[in-house]
Amino acid sequence: MAADSAIKRFLAEEIEVFGGPIYHPGTDDLPKTNEGHSVKHVVRTENEQPGRFASDLTQFNQEISGCQNCALGASRTKFVFGVGDPNADLMLIGEAPGRDEDLRGEPFVGRAGQLLDKILAAIDLNRDEVFIANVLKCRPPNNRDPLPAEVEQCEPYLWHQIELIKPKLIVALGRIAAMTLLKVEDTLKNMRLQEYTYQGVDLRVTYHPAALLRNSNFKRPAWEDFQKIRDLYLAKRKGAGIGV
Ligand code: URA
Repeated sequence: MAADSAIKRFLAEEIEVFGGPIYHPGTDDLPKTNEGHSVKHVVRTENEQPGRFASDLTQFNQEISGCQNCALGASRTKFVFGVGDPNADLMLIGEAPGRDEDLRGEPFVGRAGQLLDKILAAIDLNRDEVFIANVLKCRPPNNRDPLPAEVEQCEPYLWHQIELIKPKLIVALGRIAAMTLLKVEDTLKNMRLQEYTYQGVDLRVTYHPAALLRNSNFKRPAWEDFQKIRDLYLAKRKGAGIGV
């Protein structure tokens, strides 16, 4: 049975590579997700202990960069805290550092990261104006998906980053990051069309830049997503009286 569900999951994930579902999970196979255009809210279940972490982002980085709460602490080269404006209105979140990020200690610096920089430039942003982070701060061996126990250890760091940065909009990059944050199992195709909040902040889901490198058919829908993301970001800033 375990092998059966692993095969189904693999085939469902191939949408990111082949541009269409080879297998679409039936409603009995996977947990139900929100349908239509309702907003799904995801908040942590337990309260973060007040004062547990530093109230300054640089200090917080120093505080957790030696983390050994899971086995990835022993295998990483560098801890990848995140990069960008500590007061960014837009936060982009991937799943976990890859090889290049592990070596450099900075998220999205490999080929996928270079494409992300180009996408940001196309919507008149650069990585100094946003904040880029991952769900996991350390590289999983061979870039495998994050394990639930790793997410459980690492996600409170992300919550605290969000609390300090106070972004107005979060973008989850790719299916794995989105499913991990939103605690749903769904196709990227569905999640792109939904509106979510995460820790009280509006969240949208789009393609992982690595998926765009693998399949150029995703570039057009990704561009449509980023145009919507830009419009929402600008509307939120305007609403807050920023840049007007
Ligand atoms: N993929 C991710 O999800 N994050 C990175 O930092 C790099 C690649």
